[in-house]
Amino acid sequence: MDTTQISKPVGKPVLGIETSCDETGVALLRWEPDAPGRGLLAHTLYSQIKLHADYGGVVPELASRDHVRKLLPLVREALAQAGLAPADLGGVAYTAGPGLVGALLVGASAARAMAWALGVPAIGVHHMEGHLLAPLLEDDPPAPPFVALLVSGGHSLLVEVRAIGEYRILGDTLDDAAGEAFDKTAKLMGLPYPGGPALAKLAMQGRAGGYRFSRPMTDRPGLDFSFSGLKTQVLLAWQKSDQSEQTRADIARGFEEAIVDTLVIKCRRALEAAGARRLVIAGGVGANQRLRAELAAAGAKDGFKAYFPRLAFCTDNGAMIALAGAIRLAAGQSQDETVQVFPRWDLETLPPAA
Ligand code: KG4
Ligand code: ZN
Repeated sequence: MDTTQISKPVGKPVLGIETSCDETGVALLRWEPDAPGRGLLAHTLYSQIKLHADYGGVVPELASRDHVRKLLPLVREALAQAGLAPADLGGVAYTAGPGLVGALLVGASAARAMAWALGVPAIGVHHMEGHLLAPLLEDDPPAPPFVALLVSGGHSLLVEVRAIGEYRILGDTLDDAAGEAFDKTAKLMGLPYPGGPALAKLAMQGRAGGYRFSRPMTDRPGLDFSFSGLKTQVLLAWQKSDQSEQTRADIARGFEEAIVDTLVIKCRRALEAAGARRLVIAGGVGANQRLRAELAAAGAKDGFKAYFPRLAFCTDNGAMIALAGAIRLAAGQSQDETVQVFPRWDLETLPPAA
């Protein structure tokens, strides 16, 4: 993406739009470098979960059409929440990728059209940069350098963040992402879509020590992940079991422990490799309570601090896009009027934000 330096929307609120998958998120944020969370003026979200539930997964065409229906009402709602008019905006930020092409195009076209009509700059945001900056919206925001664990439905990444916009991928998944592993495993044990939160809830009723699955790729050096084999282990265990409610909960717990343990082991290694003492966790799986508790405990033991966004900002939302966009707009970055999206987009190719 060609990013140019133009007029800076100092102090004016930025509209953030997220439409990369099955959530329409809109937020308004005024960039406040010392306490970004204080600058959050409004955020609204519409989740398409019910729309896709019958199909057991996201149907891209239905997702795009629903973004079309929901986006502008959500923008109006956010403006009303903040007591602002469109003319008060200083810029527009939207998710330009990675994600579903049709869904991305809805947000990108609406954002570009609004920015053009208002005569303000617009910027396409990398969805994963949005996720990794989300913890900055909380009190005591983490300052780079830090390591970020980005675990969502589409990604499992360990990223060294030297500065905002300066990212080095330390580890990636070779197959399923962590959230995808949660979703697929939940599905094969008959849990409803979306499986991740349902499986995590069930795991709370599971008994300790009932089932133990492997911690993939922790027996060798390296920071990559592989979660697809775990799914097969669970399938075999489930097929051989009595398939009672308690067994399902026990298996869910064994699976969750395996994923969480694996993520914790790799985070410790990544912090050591990067020489960092701050760990940022973000993405939908960052909402997982066991993961949050285990990483906080590992931090207390090893001497690093773990930073999490609030639960609503772990999963997809407009606030993280408004934040990432506001940072780049404040640095004078934006792009020309072309509507362009990037269904696949390497985080390492982003320009520095300052
Ligand atoms: O970041 P996100 O909202 O969307 C993507 O960018 O993919 O992440 C959604 C993923 C889904 O796979 C969902 O099952 C998972 O996050 N997830 C969870 C939990 N809440 C959401 N996985 C485990 N435990 C949870 N509590
Ligand atoms: Zn996401």
